[in-house]
Amino acid sequence: MVDLDRLIVQFDKGLRTLFAPAPTARPLPGRDLPDAELDEAGKKQAAALMRVNHSGEICAQALYQGQALTARNPVARAALEQASWEEVEHLNWCETRINELGGRKSLLNPAWYTGSLALGALAGVLGDKWNLGFLAETEHQVVRHLDGHLQRLPRMRRAAPLSSR
Ligand SMILES: [Fe+2]
Repeated sequence: MVDLDRLIVQFDKGLRTLFAPAPTARPLPGRDLPDAELDEAGKKQAAALMRVNHSGEICAQALYQGQALTARNPVARAALEQASWEEVEHLNWCETRINELGGRKSLLNPAWYTGSLALGALAGVLGDKWNLGFLAETEHQVVRHLDGHLQRLPRMRRAAPLSSR
């Protein structure tokens, strides 16, 4: 059973996920690499792909939070809450890159969040077997999705190595 305190905490998490800048403990990956030169069309395409990734991270937060909300097993609940926390900085990284590319976040994020939270909560209600199976399949699909994006990123001219600048 979900009590009122947990619902209030969940509502707060949802607002933070959707509207507050996400914190990060580690720097954005790739900061030590030279940035590739992209023309305007390339930047626009990369920003659009990153907007989808950011929405995916919003959905991941909502799924983990929904699953943790209704998980019966306290160990599974703690693991899901930990996974959610560990993924928060992915939101920061995606948002930072979107801003660098001159893009914007999806206006549909509240809808993606709400739907994903409901899906996660349903998986939790169905029991630990379904909950953890759902988690494993979600991670599998994320890997496939990211592989697809890597193929779709615009070809970039290689920037000169830092040593030659
Ligand atoms: Fe992530």
